[in-house]
Amino acid sequence: MSRRRYAFVGTGHRAQMYFDSLLGAHNAVGVPVALCDTNPTRVEYYQRLFTAAGGSGPLPVYPAERYAAMLRETRPDAVVVTSVDATHADYAVHALDNGVGAIVEKPLTTDAEGCARISEAARRSSAPLVVTFNYRYSPRNSAVKRLLSEGAIGRVTAVHFEWVLDTVHGADYFRRWHREKANSGGLFVHKASHHFDLVNWWLDDTADVVTAHGGLRFYGDAEPPAERAPFGMDLAADPRLNALYGGAARDDGYHRDQDVFGPGVTIEDTMAALVRYRRGAVLTYSLVAYAPWEGYRVSITGTGGRLELEVVERSSVPAGDASELVRWKAVDPSAVDDGNADQVRASGTTLLVQRHWSAAEEVALPDAGPGHGGGDRLLLDDLFQPGARADPLGRAAGWLDGVRAVLVGAAANESMARGGEPVRVQLPGVEEAA
Ligand SMILES: NC(=O)c1ccc[n+]([C@@H]2O[C@H](COP(=O)([O-])OP(=O)(O)OC[C@H]3O[C@@H](n4cnc5c(N)ncnc54)[C@H](O)[C@@H]3O)[C@@H](O)[C@H]2O)c1
Repeated sequence: MSRRRYAFVGTGHRAQMYFDSLLGAHNAVGVPVALCDTNPTRVEYYQRLFTAAGGSGPLPVYPAERYAAMLRETRPDAVVVTSVDATHADYAVHALDNGVGAIVEKPLTTDAEGCARISEAARRSSAPLVVTFNYRYSPRNSAVKRLLSEGAIGRVTAVHFEWVLDTVHGADYFRRWHREKANSGGLFVHKASHHFDLVNWWLDDTADVVTAHGGLRFYGDAEPPAERAPFGMDLAADPRLNALYGGAARDDGYHRDQDVFGPGVTIEDTMAALVRYRRGAVLTYSLVAYAPWEGYRVSITGTGGRLELEVVERSSVPAGDASELVRWKAVDPSAVDDGNADQVRASGTTLLVQRHWSAAEEVALPDAGPGHGGGDRLLLDDLFQPGARADPLGRAAGWLDGVRAVLVGAAANESMARGGEPVRVQLPGVEEAA
């Protein structure tokens, strides 16, 4: 069988997981065939990876405005979309309309308008669109899905979901393009679409009404703290970051190490939302981007009991150069050993199930391997060898899952803009297409 051909658009940090996989573990089934980006230095970085892996000849390279030519001339089976969030919709729609599959990083798009365009394209195309919701593949999140599907706590009625970003990882959204809502949709879309997707998937339900509040309370130039030094970043200290973004700033003026307390931040760092689901469950959700530790807590109550997941990814943050700490996070965001195991709040994961009239039980989780506890490898298998492995939990996500997740964030953004008014989640036509 001939190997499947993948073109790449957006050759920044995230693309490498997919690219490396096609040059390594999945090389027998797929190959990269073209590169497209607005930034020639970052394209060149991928060209070097290709050559170093023994790839034959340089890959054809296309500037962003020649994306259509790339699809026409290199005839990929699918395009891997790992560009800035706000560009995903155009690239996905064009691929689908030309019979090319799309593997799109989260968030699928940044607003309701993008969701509508992608939904229409997906419904008129026979080419598939996959959204890479890697959090679903993390063993602990998969375990929650399995337990709920088995009815471990009965019918779910309430979810409380708290996501806590620390002063390294959280701050990083305010150094990069994500700091502008026009690029990322803000953290309610860029970050929380992971979390809204988890809740949608866990509950097998769709959000109905969203109310939200939030604002910029820590980063930005309104009230910078006295202690700013730990928020600085020395790109040159990390060879990979430097190769991708250091000299590349000369091409397009984009700086990856912007001052988190500088002007121009248009996203929130403090957010809360209240969501009613169609089958009646309620979700209370909170996200902060400047905590002294990183992780998340989810409590799910059902008619038969309660399930509680607590994850401490990094129990405290030493004040040091952010590039080292961001690199640590980039290598394996779910690595649980941050060397702080002796702290009062130790790194690690706890999953408890407690049925009515019974003591709580701890659920054993598989050993957390590298790459999101082994989840990345499973995701890459599903992407590059679709159907090769059974998927009883339904982890592989399509366009409708991507749309449903973004629409919660988009509704939260709209609610915030309207002073916290409830906003209905709706996209005519989507439900009928499911
Ligand atoms: N699932 C996850 O856990 C996860 C983790 C990281 C990033 N991501 C997603 O991956 C995507 C890329 O993020 P990243 O961290 O690699 O960012 P990045 O800034 O490193 O890379 C983005 C790339 O897009 C390019 N680009 C900008 N505008 C473009 C345009 N109009 N056309 C083509 N290319 C353009 C940039 O030059 C850059 O090379 C984002 O959508 C992000 O949400 C997902």
